[in-house]
Amino acid sequence: MSKRVLSVVGARPQFIKAFPVSDALADSHDEIVVHTGQHYDTCLSDVFFEELAIPEPAYNLGVGSGTHAEQTAQMMMELDQVLDAESPDVVMVYGDTNSTLAGALVAAKRSAALVHIEAGLRSNNRSMPEEHNRIATDHLADVLIAPTTEAVETLESEEVDGSIHETGDVMYDALLRVRERAASVSEIRSDLGLAEAEYVLATVHRAGNTADRSRLRNIIEGLAQSPMPVVVPLHPRTEAALKEYGLLANAREQLQIVDPVGYLDFVHLLDGARLVATDSGGVQREAFHLDIPCVTMRDETEWVETIDCGWNTLVGADRERIATAIAEMAPPQSKPEPYGNGNAANLVAEVITNA
Ligand code: UD1
Ligand code: UDP
Repeated sequence: MSKRVLSVVGARPQFIKAFPVSDALADSHDEIVVHTGQHYDTCLSDVFFEELAIPEPAYNLGVGSGTHAEQTAQMMMELDQVLDAESPDVVMVYGDTNSTLAGALVAAKRSAALVHIEAGLRSNNRSMPEEHNRIATDHLADVLIAPTTEAVETLESEEVDGSIHETGDVMYDALLRVRERAASVSEIRSDLGLAEAEYVLATVHRAGNTADRSRLRNIIEGLAQSPMPVVVPLHPRTEAALKEYGLLANAREQLQIVDPVGYLDFVHLLDGARLVATDSGGVQREAFHLDIPCVTMRDETEWVETIDCGWNTLVGADRERIATAIAEMAPPQSKPEPYGNGNAANLVAEVITNA
């Protein structure tokens, strides 16, 4: 049955995940996209809507940055009015950001079905804001869309109330849809003077790494030991932290720091890298999907399948472990396919039809 679906997005990875899902929904459902405004810089927001032709948000709540409480509360108040005005059948939230939690809390007390895409992921690290967002959302949701068998098992073991559906990872769908286009239109490698398979691509933005001077310094120093050039599209949170800690000038000398790039440029950078070093959830999977070895600068990961098969390694914020992994990492020849086959978005649309 055709549904009126209200999708709540707000942060960079959510625009990317929404791209294949919105496309799949368009065949049989009406979608209203609401942008909370959590990310607002052009390079973290507008660029994705332009490149990926995601439906123009019907609402931009303009919430912007703030403390967790301020941001979440303001989103909730604004979303409440949008839900009054739109009366959707379904509210869809993605991932684990404050936009996810706000959408979930508002929808859960209404008659609309709450659908959580990327349900069942756990870091088991309660100091991460995202861990609270995803646990709360999973326990509020009516429909849980899990990317992996491991995520399904986690949800079953936590005895969530909603129905669980394994679809694969919608981010894999997104990647497959743009990979060729990225290769034909992106000029970022030549613009930055990077030769294929002769550079490292790095991203850092996780609160646990940016809020701690010593961790961030170790990460910069570990990356700087790389024998290959390291290109870093720098998240504004990380730029602000490096500035505050007096580390930015040194980082710029040792690494090739650039502004955050659009998705097509990012995929093209990733596809040509010798190796990726990151603390991002999305980038760990994208590296895996593109057969690029990944060094994860965290103490744990939700994406355990990438570690188990040897294509990803956890090195924390340890300078020497980062440097050694970059110099020596050699994944095995074989690689499993735990994230589906790139058809997750169509499966999500089917689940919504039957919800
Ligand atoms: C958020 C998510 C994180 C996700 C990430 C994706 C939460 C708690 N965190 O982290 O899970 O991995 O998005 O990138 O929801 N800023 C700007 N311009 C912007 C947006 C932010 O300059 O357009 C700066 C502000 O100084 C802001 C800081 O970045 O305070 C952090 O932004 P925020 O959205 O709170 O968290 P992220 O680190 O982006
Ligand atoms: N990304 C991008 N440009 C950048 C850095 C990342 O388009 O400069 C994309 C990347 O391809 C991935 C997503 O942003 O799909 C990951 O977002 P981020 O690392 O901010 O969040 P996380 O996945 O950790 O929540």
